[in-house]
Amino acid sequence: MSFNVFITRQIPDEGIVLLRKWCQAVEVNPHDRPLTYDELLEKARGRDALITMLSDRIDSHLMHEIKSLKIVANYAVGYDNVDVKAATGRGIVVTNTPGVLTDSTADMAWALLFSVSRRIVEGDKITRAGKFVGWAPLFLLGGDVVGKTLGIIGAGRIGTAMAMRSRGWCMKVLYTTHTNKNAVLEEMLGAQKVDLKTLLRESDFISIHTPLTEKTRHLIGAKELAMMKKTAYLINTARGAVIDEAALVEALRNKVIAGAGLDVYEEEPKLKPGLAALENAVLAPHLGSATVESRNKMSVMAAENIVAVLKKQRPLHCLNQEALIKLNT
Ligand code: GLV
Ligand code: GLV
Repeated sequence: MSFNVFITRQIPDEGIVLLRKWCQAVEVNPHDRPLTYDELLEKARGRDALITMLSDRIDSHLMHEIKSLKIVANYAVGYDNVDVKAATGRGIVVTNTPGVLTDSTADMAWALLFSVSRRIVEGDKITRAGKFVGWAPLFLLGGDVVGKTLGIIGAGRIGTAMAMRSRGWCMKVLYTTHTNKNAVLEEMLGAQKVDLKTLLRESDFISIHTPLTEKTRHLIGAKELAMMKKTAYLINTARGAVIDEAALVEALRNKVIAGAGLDVYEEEPKLKPGLAALENAVLAPHLGSATVESRNKMSVMAAENIVAVLKKQRPLHCLNQEALIKLNT
């Protein structure tokens, strides 16, 4: 079988090279920007496979229009941009790229945690502006990390990797999860599974690692922020809409919590009004998996997922086995 593939953004070459070995046609979006929905629809016509980004909306309408489509290989671990249920109904396989970005994303959460708690970005601005007039006893005081309580919302791969790194700072770890207790965290760190309220009330640092689903949309709103300690920091490297961003702006403005380190936004790339003006927020432009190593591996993984479907094998990172069965019968 020969495959016609479209990749919605330029990605590292490794995966593209692999696809060119197996597929009859591989085209990459030539623009240095995401395609609009209509452009994507146009470009997707006649394709067997798409490599899509988290910024592409792959909905039931698009899948209905593109009758040739057999696989959507999302270039991300999160897949809230793809209507997996609709894909399953149409026998379209959906895959993601788990594992290869776990460490880079966990590191990003720590980078944000330290940036906000030690006021690195604020300090950088002051220093560059020539406003650093010398060491002072009360200048830019932050919060200690060592010995504090870390709350992990969503103890999957990335949440676990984030928590494991806390050993260096001898932290107490609390976590929430929708699945069974996390044996690695409990055995290695003495971590405790708690309900969200307890986690919010007792943690000094809270880091979000849950996927965005109907259940987790606005999981953290005004009420939850008010339960947090005034001295606590909130870190989000998952998906923006897990937090009610407008409520977070209010909470940061009114010092309901001490600060936030964010990598993701509710209506990316737009920010809620007021967020950019807050000194107690560190704002990264969705860089969780943005290391050369992770992005190369994601490229290969997305390509391998497509090649597997082409060969009628089971892709390693299939999110809907049912679609695979439909496709191959
Ligand atoms: C990035 O946010 C991803 O889901 O891979
Ligand atoms: C993502 O890889 C997760 O399970 O946290």
